[in-house]
Amino acid sequence: MWRALGRAIRDWRNARLVDPIFQRRLAAFPLTRPIVRREAAALFDVVAGFVYTQTLLACVRLGVLQALRAGPRDEAALYATAIQGVEPITREDFALLLRAGAALDLFERDDKNLWALGLRGAALLGNPGVLAMIEHHAVLYRDLVDPLAMLRAAPGTTALANYWPYAAAAAPGSLERPAATAYTALMSASQSLVADEILDAWPMRGRRKLLDVGGGDGTFLRAAGGRHSALQLMLFDLPAVIAIARERFMAAGMSARAEFFGGDFTADMLPRGADVVSFVRVLHDHDDATVARLLLAAHDALPRGGELLIAEPLADTAGARRMGDAYFGLYLRAMGRGRPRRREELARMLRVAGFGPPREWPTRVPLQVRVLTAERR
Ligand SMILES: C[S@@+](CC[C@H](N)C(=O)[O-])C[C@H]1O[C@@H](n2cnc3c(N)ncnc32)[C@H](O)[C@@H]1O
Repeated sequence: MWRALGRAIRDWRNARLVDPIFQRRLAAFPLTRPIVRREAAALFDVVAGFVYTQTLLACVRLGVLQALRAGPRDEAALYATAIQGVEPITREDFALLLRAGAALDLFERDDKNLWALGLRGAALLGNPGVLAMIEHHAVLYRDLVDPLAMLRAAPGTTALANYWPYAAAAAPGSLERPAATAYTALMSASQSLVADEILDAWPMRGRRKLLDVGGGDGTFLRAAGGRHSALQLMLFDLPAVIAIARERFMAAGMSARAEFFGGDFTADMLPRGADVVSFVRVLHDHDDATVARLLLAAHDALPRGGELLIAEPLADTAGARRMGDAYFGLYLRAMGRGRPRRREELARMLRVAGFGPPREWPTRVPLQVRVLTAERR
């Protein structure tokens, strides 16, 4: 009954809101005016989002945020720094960009007429992973310039599929190192956002050996090893990525604690010996059939009582639905494979593979990643 009432109220609301005269009345009425203003601003953000992202990209490419890290600068000095080593833009266009960035809270101009970092600009500088993603989004937006063309594109023909070559490769195991270098570096840079969230949320409690599957260059594994000095580390990824990872572990002085396994998890078994298997930002990259296979492979690799860790952004996350359903929904579609899943969907797939019900470990910012564990039965 309550659901039927909810639907009736929604239909009544929508029938009125599509009427411009009703909208004007809402805006004129003092009690509803604040709601109208808030909603109009939110709707404008949805309409204008691409302009904001491109303003941000221009500012990042000109190094404006980075140039303000050391403190406020006057506009002429900032301009001189920004155009060094890049094809210049005019001073007028630079001023236009700064004003646009100020409207987005990236910068602010103070009472001495100096430019300083704004709240969001300062927060961005503290997240090198996000800066790397802003530059990376240029590839995604090439596909999204014509969203319907992207949705009609055959798998493997988009710019993003080219960036993530394993998504469309018939034999991902034979990818060469140059094909894996850019995405592996991006994953490592953006892993800084994720590893601390996971390791703060999930108590590893007496676990002995962690196998990180699709672990890239091992950034997450090294972070886990850094927190738990007795933990032994196993890394599984494509052979081209494992070659990069070996160098990273060597540089970090952690090679002796790690075992490396190059292979293709759509075709090969996972190595045994670990009591925890993790998939960090891996499952949502793959279609259901591959995820089902991966969960069975993890079940096979783990002993009874072993633990499976899944960490990735999920669909239908309260307070972060835009990230799961809108952003990752379209991102993964452009990549050509995978989808964000709801917790209940993962729970069902885990049960089928022989795991117990997942337990969620709340993260501080569920926008970036949610953390689930399940026991191997
Ligand atoms: C989105 S990245 C995530 C990397 C890392 N877990 C992280 O969060 O930074 C997905 C990883 O899965 C690996 N991968 C994709 N397909 C694979 C396959 N068929 N076999 C083994 N690894 C694969 C990729 O090489 C990549 O390192």
